[in-house]
Amino acid sequence: MKILVVGGTGTIGKRIVEHFLKGNEVLIAGRTSKKYKVDIADSKSIKKLFKKTGKVDAIICAAGEAKWAPFDQLSEKDFHIGLRSKLMGQVNLVRIGRKYLKRNGSITLTTGVLADDPVYQTASAAMVNGAIHSFVQAVALELKKGIRVNVVSSGVVQDAYAKYESYFPGHPPIAMDKMMMGYVRSVQGRGTGQVIRIYS
Ligand SMILES: NC(=O)c1ccc[n+]([C@@H]2O[C@H](COP(=O)([O-])OP(=O)(O)OC[C@H]3O[C@@H](n4cnc5c(N)ncnc54)[C@H](OP(=O)(O)O)[C@@H]3O)[C@@H](O)[C@H]2O)c1
Repeated sequence: MKILVVGGTGTIGKRIVEHFLKGNEVLIAGRTSKKYKVDIADSKSIKKLFKKTGKVDAIICAAGEAKWAPFDQLSEKDFHIGLRSKLMGQVNLVRIGRKYLKRNGSITLTTGVLADDPVYQTASAAMVNGAIHSFVQAVALELKKGIRVNVVSSGVVQDAYAKYESYFPGHPPIAMDKMMMGYVRSVQGRGTGQVIRIYS
């Protein structure tokens, strides 16, 4: 398969790339990528990316930002960071990317446990994750040519646990192999419109 991984240099993306490199062609995209440069917050940039990649079998996104801050310090502009990047960035990857998918191709988005179990300072990040879950379930009803779309929602992953542990009291770290199973299930399974939750 030819697989595009947006955010393929990140904590989660690196593991996705490492896994799918066995037996597949993997294209790694991100804002600092030389060959497949993209800022998902900008739909023009997404269009440019797909002109470069051509048709692919699978698109995986492990990228997207949202502002973390106490609710009374979150400005409207702060909310727009998550709306433009993590939410519309991933929506636009589906909107634009589906035209570059081969028949029976798949798109896998990434959210996280905040959608179901938010912690302090995540009014924006949790909101965006929840919106993506609803989007995936709805858009799956309309995609053609056998194209599937799913989202992987994991808890704090082991490789990022030291950084985030204090924000997630009592949340268990998710082993990287376990997290990976979500992406494998989405790309290689037959399911669509699924929110693949990996929380323990
Ligand atoms: N870490 C966790 O425990 C965890 C758990 C569940 C869900 N998540 C979610 O999973 C996603 C990835 O998390 P992570 O921890 O792997 O993050 P990370 O280590 O910061 O990596 C982010 C990756 O995305 C790329 N990226 C960031 N913004 C981008 C943009 N606007 N356009 C294109 N590429 C962009 C980065 O590359 P460039 O800098 O080159 O753009 C990098 O490759 C995030 O949405 C996060 O909320 C994380």
